Amino acid sequence: MVKSIFLPLLGLAPTVLSIALPQSFTPKPGNFPAKGDGDFAGGIFSVSLSELPKYSGAGGTGPEAPKGAGAKTSGSGPYPAQMTTDSTLPGHTIFAPKTPPAGNLSLPFIAWGNGACTLNAGDYENLLVEIASYGYVIAADGSPTGSGGSQQSKVQDMRDSLDWAFANKAKKYGNIDLTRVTTAGHSCGGLEAMSTAYHDNRVKRILMFNIAIFQDDRRYLLQEIKVPVAYLIGGPKDMGYTTSAKDYALLNAGIPKLRANLDTGHGGTFSAANGGKEGKAAVAYLEWQWRNNETAKAYILNGGLTKDNWVVEEANWTA
Ligand SMILES: *[C@@H]1O[C@H](CO)[C@@H](O)[C@H](O)[C@H]1NC(C)=O
Ligand SMILES: *[C@@H]1O[C@H](CO)[C@@H](O)[C@H](O)[C@H]1NC(C)=O
Repeated sequence: MVKSIFLPLLGLAPTVLSIALPQSFTPKPGNFPAKGDGDFAGGIFSVSLSELPKYSGAGGTGPEAPKGAGAKTSGSGPYPAQMTTDSTLPGHTIFAPKTPPAGNLSLPFIAWGNGACTLNAGDYENLLVEIASYGYVIAADGSPTGSGGSQQSKVQDMRDSLDWAFANKAKKYGNIDLTRVTTAGHSCGGLEAMSTAYHDNRVKRILMFNIAIFQDDRRYLLQEIKVPVAYLIGGPKDMGYTTSAKDYALLNAGIPKLRANLDTGHGGTFSAANGGKEGKAAVAYLEWQWRNNETAKAYILNGGLTKDNWVVEEANWTA
């Protein structure tokens, strides 16, 4: 039987956070399953329905939460982008420049998971079009207008996005760079991103929006995360606030890491035009990581985020 819990996310319709299924993975120090699929939406780093209420917190929004929905644009980057679908990747949504950038520009690839692991990628259109407009191709779980309901994405859905890109099926969008691959997502989708990256060395960066591991007894699994992790979190009202502090501290020694907090609450700034300040931060982080953009690096590490009211912690960056 499928059970669901409803949480107000993004200030929109209530959405399902997790589905309880019979457990086959028991967290225990030293127990590292071969794959990150686990037993719940969001995979091994996620939480079961019965445990969730302990962690979801008081909620609410902070002063940095967007006021009303922002305008739809083609993004602020040099390659006007759009949300579309592709029959070669059913059950997913593509965000990409409208035409392949001139000069055979190489395009980093991102696999995305939605908050509550819903099948509605359209909720993140503002953010994902913005990122795509800087020359990225993104495959998101779900459809542009998917319903919330009790259906949720699974780790395999995000893995399907990776498999699709690695089968060269994204090449119509441009010159995809399969050495520059990120998994990312909001809330349950962020946990799915970490679970997908687990034991999959195609993934080189993990970008977590407003989330971290809920349960202390699963944090040992972070030992298997070997790539840089960035957390963009919504301040003390966000259910990802204290949990991301714990995960940030526990990541393997030497792993480059970023934890930045903006006082929005769990819903972030996704609904603002161009994804708001989280869109700006995500673009800068990706442009630094994947294109060695010094301006973008300085925005993240040398005061830009702080000036935009983020509280920043970072360590171990050498480039
Ligand atoms: C674009 O660059 C890639 C290598 O980055 C190369 O394999 C491909 O043939 C190039 N395509 C064109 C049209 O120049
Ligand atoms: C560097 O990244 C920023 C976004 O953070 C972008 O606006 C700028 O155009 C990029 N610079 C270059 C040279 O690509």
